[in-house]
Amino acid sequence: MTDGNSETKSSNQMWGGRFASGPDAIMEEINASIGFDKKLYAQDIRGSIAHATMLAHQGIISAEDKDKIVHGLNTILSEIESGQFEFSRRLEDIHMNIEARLATLIGPSAGRLHTARSRNDQVALDFRLWVKEELQRTEKALTALIAAFLDRAEEHADTVMPGFTHLQTAQPVTFGHHCMAYVEMFGRDRSRVRHAIEHMDESPIGAAALAGTGFPIDRHMTAKALGFAGPTRNSIDTVSDRDFALEFLSMASITATHLSRLAEEIVIWSTPQFGFIRLSDAFSTGSSIMPQKKNPDAAELVRAKTGRINGSLIALLTVMKGLPLAYSKDMQEDKEQVFDAAESLELAIAAMTGMVRDMTIRTDRMKAAAGSGYSTATDLADWLVREAGLPFRDAHHVTGRAVALAEQKACDLADLSLADLQSIHADITEKVFDVLTVEASVASRTSFGGTAPNEVRKQIAWWRARN
Ligand code: ARG
Repeated sequence: MTDGNSETKSSNQMWGGRFASGPDAIMEEINASIGFDKKLYAQDIRGSIAHATMLAHQGIISAEDKDKIVHGLNTILSEIESGQFEFSRRLEDIHMNIEARLATLIGPSAGRLHTARSRNDQVALDFRLWVKEELQRTEKALTALIAAFLDRAEEHADTVMPGFTHLQTAQPVTFGHHCMAYVEMFGRDRSRVRHAIEHMDESPIGAAALAGTGFPIDRHMTAKALGFAGPTRNSIDTVSDRDFALEFLSMASITATHLSRLAEEIVIWSTPQFGFIRLSDAFSTGSSIMPQKKNPDAAELVRAKTGRINGSLIALLTVMKGLPLAYSKDMQEDKEQVFDAAESLELAIAAMTGMVRDMTIRTDRMKAAAGSGYSTATDLADWLVREAGLPFRDAHHVTGRAVALAEQKACDLADLSLADLQSIHADITEKVFDVLTVEASVASRTSFGGTAPNEVRKQIAWWRARN
């Protein structure tokens, strides 16, 4: 064993290069969260005002102390909002920065604010309030995105396009129907947001360090003042739980995944090869070298943000997975992940809402593509079942031969002559041509949730009543 001091000193020369004052400075840097948790200042002040008010109401602190505390906290709020507040890294986090300033402003009364609470329930409260507000913002943003899709769906309830499986032309659908698929996805995302709000709607304050407190506090009073449905029921869980943050990140990841699929479709649709849409100038950029190009940058960045948001979810899951109850400092790492994901998600939803509203739908290109690739082959098979009484498997086989013949003649199914079709199956009549056009195909799919324009209009009306 070498002398502890000299070992510290000699290693310090190896790893302490950028820290002027050695291990203390490193400790301060790794320990401090003020750089990011200052975002929680408004929630921290609201929480403290509610706590102080309750303490006075319960006779735990005097009314005069409470008045001084509330006045001081409001002063600090305006100092922070007007940019006059000096945050100090030495004071670690937002809670101690505010409390220290309160002491400067009002003197010894400030010391009474922290009665019957700990930074453990304080941070749980602040962060919950922040995440709850963010969820409420997300709910609004998703509502705006859904509204954009409903408008486009209504406008294009009759616009035919190819529906794809394996990105190969499958059956004709309408663009309105395709838009409504996204309405369903973002509608489920929004209901996940609402559930997350419900789950987290309990007030942590009063759990104290982990065991509760002997002071006669009223947790129902603070819960009500802070807009929660009630107080949390277990003080240990309260200070160790971060699943409200995980739920936010899970919801964000799923929503981002939906946004990313849409972004990918926008990228594909806006290629000259597809040409289904034209993006507005507002959401695309030119190339510095190739004058003909218009790049879907906003869509690409939305697609990329998904990676970032998924990363945040995995990061926090990993931080939390091995922690013994109750609070551990590891949990301080929860905030940056949530803040970063929240910012990315808000931006991605807003950009997508703008793109969806602004993009030009090239109905001629969609229609031409809808008819290519023998997209009405299933309609021919269904017709043979319905009108000629064939079992579906036989009808499938007959249709396959019709497709082969059309391919040989380099024409669409609807361009084959009646004689051609009858050479494949004698029971085919003139009436078959009624189902071989894309419009007829689409109009025939009237099953609940199907692509027929009238069915899509019903779904639009259902959503309008709920958006
Ligand atoms: N800055 C800390 C955090 O974000 C606040 C809680 C500190 N609690 C403690 N026992 N050290 O987690």
